[in-house]
Amino acid sequence: SLSRPVISSPDTLRALEAASHELVHNLQPVAFPTETVYGLGALALNVSATSRIFSTKGRPADNPLIVHVSSFPMLHTLLPQDYVVPDAYTALMKHFWPGALTLLFPSDPKTIPTIITANQPTVAIRMPSHPVARALIAVANAPLAAPSANSSGKPSPTRAEHVQRDLDGKVGIILDGGACGVGLESTVVDGLHTDGNIRVLRPGGITVEDIERVLREEMKVSPPKVLVHRRDFRDEAMEAAPTTPGMKYRHYSPAVPVYLLYTVSPPPDGVQPLEADSFLASLRAEPPVKVGILAPSDSMLGTRSLPTDGIEWTRFPLGPTAEPSVTAHLLFDGLLTLERQGVDLILIEEVQEEREGLAVMNRVKKAAGECRWIRFNESG
Ligand code: TXA
Ligand code: MG
Repeated sequence: SLSRPVISSPDTLRALEAASHELVHNLQPVAFPTETVYGLGALALNVSATSRIFSTKGRPADNPLIVHVSSFPMLHTLLPQDYVVPDAYTALMKHFWPGALTLLFPSDPKTIPTIITANQPTVAIRMPSHPVARALIAVANAPLAAPSANSSGKPSPTRAEHVQRDLDGKVGIILDGGACGVGLESTVVDGLHTDGNIRVLRPGGITVEDIERVLREEMKVSPPKVLVHRRDFRDEAMEAAPTTPGMKYRHYSPAVPVYLLYTVSPPPDGVQPLEADSFLASLRAEPPVKVGILAPSDSMLGTRSLPTDGIEWTRFPLGPTAEPSVTAHLLFDGLLTLERQGVDLILIEEVQEEREGLAVMNRVKKAAGECRWIRFNESG
């Protein structure tokens, strides 16, 4: 059953017990795989354990953490007494838990330390599906607070070696579960508004299309609307406070600058795009320059022959255009791999904001920031 993961390999069991001991007795964070990205976990209900997450990552204290549970009984220990789970949440949990969906719940400060919620009235909770994550929570027998296991501002790790390189010497145990299947963080959903609408605060592994489909199927009479932050609603207060992932702080940035090559998306207000031709000319002005390219294998940048004079190009293909889940799976790996290969800058080609492409572009736009948008017109 969901609440009792099976642990068969003695090696695995030994690693899980060591990790659990580190969490429960030493109150030290442990890095572990989830189906989305690697997490840096600590006992959620212990303030000194949780505070070490912030110091290890260099994370600002006003950015709240997600609490991870391995069972529904464990979820209910975190919720206010007599709390009635909204119908929309019941539907979403039925389809997407365990999995890459995080839900906001009312937070009772008598139960949830305010260090986790950063004094927000809500707490973000998810039930991961990765067997190692589930087993670790079950063996520790306690909910784990876990952000992505990267230093604050860096791309999230999707392989154990990404964690090792980024947090080298800062974390005692890294459980290696191979490459994360989803490759992007969970979708963060707020269904607590009195208007009954579902607000997607951070697009992620569970797509908006799938959320809409499930709500239509399960709540036939009056399914709630699904609103995507920045696409369908703005919330100035929320954007000023860092409760919306990636709003206030630098995010997803490798050590080298990331440029977004776009043809369709209009850049945000105030962004002055560069022109492709003059960008290329500026690169050639300072040879030799190494440029990493992240693009679908069958896209314009993925297939075009590239000018060789003065520029060394390295392509990291992001799967076929028709399969955005593959692009999601490879994006962070691509950023971190190109960075390690020593490129001077990374050029990412826009993908369609559909299905997993919405979350991909959300991360890419944040990595590119406000001054590295390049306009490309097909004739160029
Ligand atoms: O897939 C994931 O969600 C991964 C794995 C490890 O589970 N975790 C993850 O955690 O991405 P983190 O801390 O990197 O991102 C969680 C985001 C934060 O940026 C925060 O802004 C948002 O969730 N969040 C947490 N609690 C919140 C709350 N009460 N209200 C609004 N947003 C919240
Ligand atoms: Mg993160």
